[in-house]
Amino acid sequence: MNWSEAQHPPLDPTKTVGIESCAECHEEMVDRWSESAHATSFETLIKSEAARNIAEIAGIQVSEIPTTASCVRCHYTREFLHSAVQTTESISCESCHGPALDWINLHNVKSKSRAERVSSASEAGMKHPQRLYEVVKTCFECHVVDDEQLVNHTGHPAITNGFELLSWYEGETSHNYLVSKPGRSVKSHSSQLQPIPIDRRRMLFLTGKLMHLSYTLKVISRATDPPVDPSGEFIKLKNGLPTFAVQHSIQARRIFDELVAINKIIDAPEIKASIEIYQSLSFVTGQKKNILEAGEKIDLQTRAFTENHNGSEFHGIDSILETLVPRYSGLEKDEIEKVSQFMSKLKP
Ligand code: HEC
Ligand code: HEC
Ligand code: HEC
Ligand code: HEC
Repeated sequence: MNWSEAQHPPLDPTKTVGIESCAECHEEMVDRWSESAHATSFETLIKSEAARNIAEIAGIQVSEIPTTASCVRCHYTREFLHSAVQTTESISCESCHGPALDWINLHNVKSKSRAERVSSASEAGMKHPQRLYEVVKTCFECHVVDDEQLVNHTGHPAITNGFELLSWYEGETSHNYLVSKPGRSVKSHSSQLQPIPIDRRRMLFLTGKLMHLSYTLKVISRATDPPVDPSGEFIKLKNGLPTFAVQHSIQARRIFDELVAINKIIDAPEIKASIEIYQSLSFVTGQKKNILEAGEKIDLQTRAFTENHNGSEFHGIDSILETLVPRYSGLEKDEIEKVSQFMSKLKP
């Protein structure tokens, strides 16, 4: 597909610095990351049966997946090393925080104020956690799959089942090791994973819902394959699922219903506005432009939401947050329960 439309275009290999450059200062984060699916898929992805099936239909060798442009942008990180572009990691620090060459020496300058550091690094392309909108966006760029042909022809997942920002961050992906110490101009590292403050958890949950709806609408608007056959029946893909547009439309409806429920217990103008924007839509053919515009409008509401709130007023959703189970891949259900109990003790 055309990169100008891609939600997560490939990282520029001449701007990436690689995981070792982060390890120099953020060692415990790199250790934790190295055990997550984002890191281990470097070894596991091409060995899977799913990869073999997708490669076969896409007409490539399995060994070519880590260098095939249409896979690299969501699955791999490339660097320019020894005068050649090489695939060095799967989903790395820079996949989420942005290629670091231009910001690595700006984001940690002790002689600047925190605000100056955040703004100079962000201008140089860093997705800084201080700018919640920027850092959260990346998850949905990959986890809401935007490549219709990939989904409809190879059986690649369109949606990540059960994806919810807070719990999917708070499990194996989380790496909050920084603490503020009095008298220090920059944050310091702790050897212990720090619990995420409740206000921040509320913001992650709610921002995730809005962003998920916005990105899902945007990908629906780009679909071109017909969802039904000439007799009007929904087309089924080989894996038994409906087509790309239908899978995403069902997902959009699900997130909308959740937002409606959330809107009954908390008061946020951006959530109300997003609900109204969605309600103005009809999901019939010929609506692409309206659906895209709705996605873009909800995106603006999401940004405004992150700028206008800090989470302190949203205690109404705490009972929902308590039901979330931190996401760990490869764990059995009872192990997930144990982790969840452990996490709940960490919560302040
Ligand atoms: C020379 C040490 C050093 C290196 C190398 C380094 N960092 Fe940092 N990083 C820091 C320090 C110190 C802070 C705390 C800055 C502050 O308090 O504003 C920080 C903060 C951050 C933050 C923001 C956290 C926050 O909210 O304050 C992110 C994200 C980050 N680093 C990512 C990275 C990534 C990704 C790399 C590798 C590409 C990297 N860093 C390399 C020292 C470093
Ligand atoms: C838009 C981003 C995106 C693109 C492009 C993409 N993937 Fe994926 N892929 C994902 C995400 C996200 C997952 C995890 C989905 C999940 O957890 O259900 C995934 C999962 C997979 C899996 C595991 C699927 C399963 O059923 O277990 C394979 C294999 C895979 N991708 C191969 C590929 C190949 C090969 C390409 C290139 C032809 C590719 N992907 C392109 C985002 C992408
Ligand atoms: C899957 C996406 C993703 C990956 C991969 C990732 N980060 Fe992050 N990072 C985030 C998000 C989201 C936050 C904000 C978390 C929050 O709000 O509590 C964050 C927060 C941080 C922070 C601030 C932590 C704190 O205690 O405040 C630092 C520093 C950081 N990341 C560095 C790194 C480094 C170094 C790597 C690679 C080892 C990395 N990140 C990999 C998404 C990612
Ligand atoms: C560059 C694309 C990309 C970005 C950005 C990204 N992911 Fe992923 N993520 C993937 C892919 C691909 C997989 C599947 C890896 C595999 O197992 O092959 C995955 C897997 C995961 C898993 C484990 C899978 C499971 O089924 O349990 C979690 C949890 C996860 N992502 C959370 C997040 C969160 C939270 C963010 C944002 C903070 C994020 N991801 C950002 C591509 C991405």
